[in-house]
Amino acid sequence: MDKKTIKDIEVAGKTVLVRVDFNVPRNKETGEITNDNRIVAALPTLKYLLENGPKAIVLFSHLGKVKTEEDKAKNDLSVVAPRLSELLGVDVKFVNCTRGEELETAVKEAKDGQVILVQNTRYEAGESKNDPELGKYWASLGDVFVEDAFGSVHRAHASTAGIPAHLPSAAGFLVEKEIAYIGKAVSNPERPMVAILGGAKVSDKILVIENLLKIADKVIVGGGMTYTFMKAMGHSIGNSLVEDDRIEVAKEIIAKGGDKLILPV
Ligand code: 3PG
Repeated sequence: MDKKTIKDIEVAGKTVLVRVDFNVPRNKETGEITNDNRIVAALPTLKYLLENGPKAIVLFSHLGKVKTEEDKAKNDLSVVAPRLSELLGVDVKFVNCTRGEELETAVKEAKDGQVILVQNTRYEAGESKNDPELGKYWASLGDVFVEDAFGSVHRAHASTAGIPAHLPSAAGFLVEKEIAYIGKAVSNPERPMVAILGGAKVSDKILVIENLLKIADKVIVGGGMTYTFMKAMGHSIGNSLVEDDRIEVAKEIIAKGGDKLILPV
């Protein structure tokens, strides 16, 4: 990969800040993690770091959408710490704040590769706005930054884009792997090339769908965003997930896609 990866940076003795994507699905009633794939996906990078003698590993992640105090209570990242600890086989110290003395002391006093998980980055209003002061503050906690939150790297937020503006930075193994697969698939595809997309939000995928329609022989759309397309075609979708403000965009994609675009029946 022509991007700097974790193997290109020195981590021994350093405080390594890592942006992971621990935005895991949870049971609405109990709050329990229902699928830990995203935690598992971060393990190769975290294990590599642990083997290379950092002073501390400080993990940042968002969880869910946070706009109100109630959202904060619903999206407490502490649920991830025990599962991560179990999978990684080391103690994970959860810091129940996103800035201030408790966090700073935990990082300063960490030693022997202590893993620290910081509370949900979206508890900070400045996270999604990429507040420069917030990115600078988080960056001040560490020496180097590793970006391994593949599910979030398309967002220019303080924890994904703000921190690396201030520190030597590199991609983790998950980001490296995904870029390698996607890079090969889109720059030199074997034919016929069929792209299959899922996910809840048409809004996040518009450019991806438009680009894939130029490259792929067929584009199959599934998942939650299907219903926005269905509604755009005039179907009744009951209470299904929909982005009403994207219906027009969905119509445009349907028109552009023609018989290349395949939607569920
Ligand atoms: C995801 O689940 O799609 C990523 O974690 C990004 O989450 P977001 O759409 O809430 O930014």
